[in-house]
Amino acid sequence: MHRPGDEAGSPPGQPAGRPGAGGPWRAPDMPLCPAPAGAMKVPMIPKDEKLYIVMVGLPSQGKSTVANRLQDIFTKNDIHTMIYNNGELRRKLAPQETWMSDFYDPRNTAAVQLRKEFALMNMRRAKAYLRNKGQVAILDATNVSRSRRELIEQQLDDHPILYIECVNNDVEIVDLSIRHKVRTNEFAGMPEETAVMEFKKRIEYYREIYNPLHVERNYITMDSLHNRVIDEQIEDQIPLYSRIRDCLVTDVVKSLFLIRHTESEFNVEDRIGGDPDLTHRGITQAQALGRFFQKKKIAYIFTSEKKRTIQTAHYIQALQEDCTIVPLKEFNEIDAGICEGMTYDEIQRLKPDVYAARKADKYNYTYPLGEGYATMKERIKIGIKKAFFLNQKPDNIMIVGHRAVNRMILSHFLYRREEDVPYIYVPQDKFYHIVATQDRKVFELKRYDFRRAGR
Ligand code: F6P
Repeated sequence: MHRPGDEAGSPPGQPAGRPGAGGPWRAPDMPLCPAPAGAMKVPMIPKDEKLYIVMVGLPSQGKSTVANRLQDIFTKNDIHTMIYNNGELRRKLAPQETWMSDFYDPRNTAAVQLRKEFALMNMRRAKAYLRNKGQVAILDATNVSRSRRELIEQQLDDHPILYIECVNNDVEIVDLSIRHKVRTNEFAGMPEETAVMEFKKRIEYYREIYNPLHVERNYITMDSLHNRVIDEQIEDQIPLYSRIRDCLVTDVVKSLFLIRHTESEFNVEDRIGGDPDLTHRGITQAQALGRFFQKKKIAYIFTSEKKRTIQTAHYIQALQEDCTIVPLKEFNEIDAGICEGMTYDEIQRLKPDVYAARKADKYNYTYPLGEGYATMKERIKIGIKKAFFLNQKPDNIMIVGHRAVNRMILSHFLYRREEDVPYIYVPQDKFYHIVATQDRKVFELKRYDFRRAGR
């Protein structure tokens, strides 16, 4: 076994263009693609180094998010990449009978056969794509059984295969992800709870036939919530390997709008913590935010569980077409413990020790019976991971947080010395726009149309 180095120096993985077991053929459902007209771009990998990426994992483990992320980074680098998603094909060709969990029962032989046919159809399409201009074909499906993977290996024998398994054991996130899935057309007209139950049964059927990756030549198993590689085995030269691995462990955010909740009743009195409502001025600010973002498509707004962030998000959601608010406890404001609900002035007068100790080392100080910036770090990180996991195509992602929370989120993307983090500027009349991809990093503090809203 070896671990490949940078793809730039890698020798070709397999003899290129070797026909499959059945000899040269053409997928019946897909025309051969002509070379694109116009100027030819120089590909990042030699044309004969092609790769199948086969996703593996139970439903709702983040496979499509990872597949989309890979396609995105490859496409940006002129590497022709296509995703073949069995679920999409099934919904297109057999929408009626396939939402019920029975369809996934391994004892339902007719359904097993039908699913196999959809899988084969996508394998043929992927193979035809790589025969032509395609360089990377991603098969996005559960592929949890060894027998399904054997079939893939028999069919796709002309280029190396890299399996990427996604694992996510966070019950809350899997649940949220299921709830999002059952809102799609597939379950239209069905009560949400019934759809959720059906979907959970579907997952259990897949679990029955699950075999972990082991005998496969090349695989990476990743914790898709934390973007961590938990197991890997690489026997062949895999084109693009180091780029793929780096992409899997990178937090990619194409466009994050990081907003602080608008003015609350406590802000007016300079009180900290608590769970106050927005003021009238805060509502006007939130409405202005709604208008500002009206033309952008925001699929999710992640908030804390506090009223002031959820209320702010409601005014933004009101002018969106299809937008879900997801309150996460991880984004709750710093818990000020014995100082909750006090003003800074009261803390200075009534709790001078607290005031002085916090002033001396604000980042590391922990409020008695509460939190500090340092102790918030882990939960904020988990909140960010949850938000990115749920936001499958991370075009626009929005977080409505609090002052301390947003400072910690900013410090996740933007290097700041620890002692400076608790002083990052987080106003209420502006928001941060963040872009962080493998190739691009942008931080912008932007004003929305509410001229005198800041404090
Ligand atoms: O808006 C006030 C607030 O969000 C408080 O709830 C919180 O304790 C404080 O800001 C955090 O800011 P700092 O760490 O500067 O006190």
